[in-house]
Amino acid sequence: MTRNFISIQDWTSEEIKANIELASELKILTKQGKCSPHLEKKSYALIFHKESLRTRISFEVGIFQLGGMAMYLTGNDFELGKRESNEDVAKVMSRYVDGILIRTFDHQNVVELGHHADVPVINMLTDWSHPCQLMADILTVKEHLGTLENLKIVYLGDGNNLANSWINMAARIPMQLCIATSTETMPDMQLFEEVKAMGISDLSISHSAQEAVKNADVLYTDVWASMGQKEKAALKANQLKDFQINQKLLEYAKSSTIVMHCLPAERGYEITSEVLDGPQSVVLDQAENRLHAQKAILVQLSRWQQQ
Ligand code: CP
Ligand code: NVA
Repeated sequence: MTRNFISIQDWTSEEIKANIELASELKILTKQGKCSPHLEKKSYALIFHKESLRTRISFEVGIFQLGGMAMYLTGNDFELGKRESNEDVAKVMSRYVDGILIRTFDHQNVVELGHHADVPVINMLTDWSHPCQLMADILTVKEHLGTLENLKIVYLGDGNNLANSWINMAARIPMQLCIATSTETMPDMQLFEEVKAMGISDLSISHSAQEAVKNADVLYTDVWASMGQKEKAALKANQLKDFQINQKLLEYAKSSTIVMHCLPAERGYEITSEVLDGPQSVVLDQAENRLHAQKAILVQLSRWQQQ
């Protein structure tokens, strides 16, 4: 059966941990100039219906480093469900390429592609989730804190695709996950309750940033208005103004707490420059790790496809 990476929960806990190990190995080998061409003669379609810096570049470079070919497609080439059905798109593309990677708005479109494709489908971000980012993020956490399990992760800000992705990760890696947000900007609460009921992680919601960050190992934030919601920027800024990561808030956390942001950042809104550029910030390691974590995802899916 073809395996996909559309949500973190598509993979087991063991598979996610193995992917982090593989990503670390590929990172070392790449820096030594010894990364093997695991994807030689393989082609990948990268479909972007939203902007991207990190995701596009890290996937294109990663596929090149693994000996494969990446094809960049946008909404000018085709839009899902307009000219033909998602099923037809998935079946036709499966006859040409070895993987379909997509960044789009509606998560359901990616699920449908995955259902009908005969090659792996990778979610490069939807309005609901961003699993590739999370794989890079937990690699970064492991590098900086030496462990993945039983950490206190505090996500501050909008209950968006990144907040949902952390909740999905809490279904696979045991953690104390606190979402600190306003009552108007909550994450997917159905997902939250489902994951909480699994009993793997300790999940909570806080409406006080200062309370939430106490004893945190990781503080994580993201833009308050995501792509496709920029007209709500002023409203969100008003709803979330008490959840900014700034130097004063860091004083309520530990001196060893690391600060994470998937980028792009809106400096002065969800995070101040002082913190983003400060000694507790690991944001550039996160950005670099997109490359290594995604290479491991591609290699893993390719291996499963050959079984
Ligand atoms: N973090 C992230 O996905 O960045 P891009 O939107 O630039 O790809
Ligand atoms: N939540 C943001 C993440 C960008 C990487 C967005 O969807 O725009």
